[in-house]
Amino acid sequence: MPAISITVNGVQKNLDVPADMPLLWALRDHLGLTGAKYGCGVGACGSCAVLLDGVAFRSCQIGVGDVGARKVITIEGLSPNGDHPLQKAWVEHDVSQCGYCQTGKIIEAAALLNRKPSPTDADIDQTFSTHICRCGTYQRIREAIHAAAKAAR
Ligand code: FES
Ligand code: FES
Repeated sequence: MPAISITVNGVQKNLDVPADMPLLWALRDHLGLTGAKYGCGVGACGSCAVLLDGVAFRSCQIGVGDVGARKVITIEGLSPNGDHPLQKAWVEHDVSQCGYCQTGKIIEAAALLNRKPSPTDADIDQTFSTHICRCGTYQRIREAIHAAAKAAR
């Protein structure tokens, strides 16, 4: 099996896995990065989101062999000490309930702020319209994103 090389959180990783293995599996089972969560496996919940070149991507929906040169950032690599403005805002606004889906939410929020540094409520609602949180944290996600956007200005 040929080694597949991907860059994750700034470090090149070589994986001896099938090219069609979902990136989520490679991250969790082969690289020990368990922040991205398996929720549905069919691209419907967003719990597995990671950044590929700064864009949120559902890691259950891409084979590790298709990542190519795109840089993968997982929640573990979003900031050195968990002090990204979004992570701080998430704590300050007590966003998480069970927490299961929240790494995907923070990654999606990071991608949103990458493309829109001052998003409106409508931007946030539209972005998260395809994310599922069984605990219903949507209102606090919105507040935390506004707070993080303000802190970053
Ligand atoms: S586990 Fe990937 S979108 Fe739900
Ligand atoms: S915080 Fe529990 S599912 Fe989202």
